[in-house]
Amino acid sequence: MSKMRQTLPQAITVPVVRARKAAGERVVMLTAYDYPSARIAEDSGADVLLVGDSLGMVIQGRSDTLGVTLEQMVYHCTMVARAAKRALVVADMPFLTYQAGPRDALINCGRCLKEGGAQAVKIEGGARRAPLVRRLVENDIPVMGHIGLTPQSLHALGGFKVQGRTLEAQEQLLKDALALERAGAFSLVLECVPLEVAREITSAVRIPTIGIGAGPHCDGQVLVFHDLLGLYEGHLARFVRPYGDFGRQMREALSHFGEDVRSGKFPTEEEAFHLQTDAAHAAAKKEVHGTP
Ligand code: KIV
Repeated sequence: MSKMRQTLPQAITVPVVRARKAAGERVVMLTAYDYPSARIAEDSGADVLLVGDSLGMVIQGRSDTLGVTLEQMVYHCTMVARAAKRALVVADMPFLTYQAGPRDALINCGRCLKEGGAQAVKIEGGARRAPLVRRLVENDIPVMGHIGLTPQSLHALGGFKVQGRTLEAQEQLLKDALALERAGAFSLVLECVPLEVAREITSAVRIPTIGIGAGPHCDGQVLVFHDLLGLYEGHLARFVRPYGDFGRQMREALSHFGEDVRSGKFPTEEEAFHLQTDAAHAAAKKEVHGTP
């Protein structure tokens, strides 16, 4: 299947994403977690489907992403990869699946490709991850970097906060971006950094930057599927633009169903199965004459 995908002319591969920058074409990335969300996201024209560890929040109802496991990530990747015919599928490596050592990281990232069907992985962290990124890339595991607000560092950062606001932090982010590029990352997520910082990094690196809360100067943008469609009940960050209110529409549709069941309007006889003609005659006779 993955071989077939690569021969399709319109398939989005890792080199295609990397080349987007030179071509001046923006990258559209959406998160997806299962078959239907991936089908919908791909049909909308998304280039990259990120199986984000945000699934911990929007699918599992947790308050952060830390509890997501490798097994869960592999499972969600299989559903998204089955749905994706054209888009690049990226597995977002969960907390503690790549931090404990390069050997574990290689095996865990490899599982997301081998068993999950993803074509690349995303890992959080800057220059300190560069040796790991190099090792993964040398072993044919394409890596998307992620700097700025890295949600797995929630406790170390003291909360979900905008990063890179001081000159020192800004310089560090630039160093991080360059180190990840040198290590072989094919693209870079910039999360919650001032737009000036994102602009500077975007012009300094040759790989595409994909922003989330990083302003309009990135080479691409990503939003979480549930945030964008109005399906998440939690707090929405100011960088999220809701393009739909589907949570409300779903509630309305479902309560309409409930009303129809209670009032007997659902189902009608047309929505039921009927006996075949002979059996129907026999049943009608039985009704008129009682048991023969
Ligand atoms: O987990 C996720 O969905 C992410 C994106 C928001 C970049 O990491």
